[in-house]
Amino acid sequence: MAEKRRVVVFIASSLDGYIATKDDSLDWLFNVEGDGDNGYSEFYATVDTVLMGKRTYDWIIQHVTEEFPYKEKECYVFTSSNQEHTEYTRFINEDIVDFTNKLKKQKGKNIWLVGGGEIIQSFIKEELVNEVILTVAPAVLGNGIPLFKEVQLELSLIGTRTFNQFVELHYEVKK
Ligand SMILES: NC(=O)c1ccc[n+]([C@@H]2O[C@H](COP(=O)([O-])OP(=O)(O)OC[C@H]3O[C@@H](n4cnc5c(N)ncnc54)[C@H](OP(=O)(O)O)[C@@H]3O)[C@@H](O)[C@H]2O)c1
Repeated sequence: MAEKRRVVVFIASSLDGYIATKDDSLDWLFNVEGDGDNGYSEFYATVDTVLMGKRTYDWIIQHVTEEFPYKEKECYVFTSSNQEHTEYTRFINEDIVDFTNKLKKQKGKNIWLVGGGEIIQSFIKEELVNEVILTVAPAVLGNGIPLFKEVQLELSLIGTRTFNQFVELHYEVKK
């Protein structure tokens, strides 16, 4: 039987495990000297579906001045509110387990869980994450929005790469 689609967290964090400052700044990340696109397009080609929490969606809408960055993919945004779908985005107000398991049963490429911290926490608690690809920036923030909060995960290291100042850690979640 064909392998099921995998849910992959592909995300950047500070050395002390934050994905944004408390006021949602990513300047500490964008200031780092990487190499090319730091593996982004290679990863992007492995997914056809993108999932995120509503705060991450709002951040993108407020900060990305070019066109919607995931318009070639199926994009779902989790929220407890009722929102009108847009040209590129569907807003999902249903149980994340049922929704994600339905997606995983469909044919397709892998599924990117973009973030942020809150939706990742929900996904980990429900054992929905299969892989974590973490790009670590050489910055210590001291506080901010944590990548992992109140969750436990046992991981197995698949590989590491460096992109100039970044280190990429690729893990599989042990079941
Ligand atoms: N460093 C990186 O690579 C990276 C990547 C992604 C995001 N970020 C940053 O992370 C920050 C956002 O993270 P965050 O943790 O604050 O928020 P988030 O996880 O992006 O979004 C939280 C929102 O998602 C919805 N949600 C969460 N769990 C849900 C569930 N189980 N079912 C239904 N809806 C659910 C809720 O929306 P409602 O309140 O509408 O119900 C909740 O308020 C931003 O600053 C963003 O820039 C950084």
